Amino acid sequence: MAGIDKSQTVGVIGAGTMGAGIAQLAAAAGHPVLLYDAFEGAAEKGRARIAAGLEKLVQRGKMTAEDVAALVARIKVAGSIDDFAGAALAVEAVVEKLEVKRDLFAKLEAVMGPEAILGTNTSSISVTAIGRDLEHPGRLVGMHFFNPAPVMKLVEVISGVSTDPAAAAAVFDTAKAWGKVPVHAKSTPGFIVNRVARPYYAEALRLYEEQVADPATLDALLTEGGGFRMGPFALMDLIGHDVNYAVSTSVFDAYYQEPRFRPSIAQQELVNAGRLGRKTGRGFYDYVEGAAPPHPAAETVPDVDQFAGFRFGEEFDSGTIRILATDGRTAKSIAAKTGKPTILYDLADVSGGAKRLGFAASPDVSRDQIDRFAATLALHGMAATLLPDWPGLVVMRTVAMLANEGFEAVLQGVADEDGIDTAMRFGVNYPKGPVGWAREIGLGRVLGVLDAIHALTGDPRYRASMALRMAA
Ligand code: NAI
Repeated sequence: MAGIDKSQTVGVIGAGTMGAGIAQLAAAAGHPVLLYDAFEGAAEKGRARIAAGLEKLVQRGKMTAEDVAALVARIKVAGSIDDFAGAALAVEAVVEKLEVKRDLFAKLEAVMGPEAILGTNTSSISVTAIGRDLEHPGRLVGMHFFNPAPVMKLVEVISGVSTDPAAAAAVFDTAKAWGKVPVHAKSTPGFIVNRVARPYYAEALRLYEEQVADPATLDALLTEGGGFRMGPFALMDLIGHDVNYAVSTSVFDAYYQEPRFRPSIAQQELVNAGRLGRKTGRGFYDYVEGAAPPHPAAETVPDVDQFAGFRFGEEFDSGTIRILATDGRTAKSIAAKTGKPTILYDLADVSGGAKRLGFAASPDVSRDQIDRFAATLALHGMAATLLPDWPGLVVMRTVAMLANEGFEAVLQGVADEDGIDTAMRFGVNYPKGPVGWAREIGLGRVLGVLDAIHALTGDPRYRASMALRMAA
């Protein structure tokens, strides 16, 4: 089964945020589109929103008025589900309720031809469960778009237990023809992105709870150092803590209280306080007018000599001090073994132009040596942030946990390594896919970081995936 032809009709059910975006995509690809919504007038409104959004593209010279008119003309509002009889694909984006979705697909199956494919944009319900009562559950496939659907490239193509591989392949090819980057995944809680991304929030919250640094500093380390597009605290403020906390809790419960997914008390307290983020004017940061912007901590750079010959990624020994990249051990433990003051620095995306580096020092490192290291980093164009002597520091710990989740998902057959990495790059714009990133860092080092944190905390959330341990 190839992707559906652009002459064939695509039906979209639910004309809200996601449904309207999906309808726009299908029409942009040339399909006649039917848009249906159960609420009176909602489909018309959805269609008008699409037209208004595209109008802005005309004003910015990105589309011609004729192309927009033709695209919008391809979208017809359907009066009822019965109009979907001739459609080749129906994608639903209605409320996230299992019974509503089951009911809808039962109706669709009754009117659509036996060859027609049924797609669900669910973000958290089992595709297997949605398809349970269908006469032909093989034709139900998860077609999980990301918000905003016309912009975000990723489509997770989700197969439930009964999904026919040919139907999944057809959805995959169709998404590709719509200009998307599709990735196959197995129906498991959170699919790929909403699962593998959990540690990005969870580790940031843990570091904050452990008082390693404040949100502004942690965000700056991950963006300016790690190359992430947005820091976890700014991102959680944007998503809304109520939403982010609810997703964390649902993934945690769906995996039978797996400690890796344990939600954060600090975040729950923000929800309790009604500080939900941007939408309420306050989350980790303050969004009221005139509020001071987040201010990350950095070492001031006094006028001192640098460590001549220091190179990022290489071990440096001045004779009186050793400077090396974190491998999970603390600077104190290394200094105790070697008898030499030790500075450990964090992971940073140096080839991507990192502008900040976190570091930690053993207790016998002098203030002068800390100043000299900050001055050395300034010479390399990086702000220096002194951190407590914590295992794995900040960026390395985050990437190690993301990679660990990626390996675990591979182990469980959710997707292959490429699929995981592609999903994270195109679904949440990570600078690198976490599995490939771990391979680049060195799997032994990543494993060392996890083992060190596991040993120090005794918390099973840091146990390494068997897949990572076997690959290292
Ligand atoms: P929304 O609330 O913006 O839109 C839902 C629309 O469905 C509403 O217009 C509503 O009137 C309509 N509707 C409800 N029940 C219906 C029924 N039985 N038949 C026909 N229409 C019905 O919701 P949104 O955000 O677009 O989400 C829709 C689906 O997409 C959900 O399953 C959600 O989990 C999923 N999703 C949402 C994402 C997001 O960021 N908002 C991202 C990816 C997936």
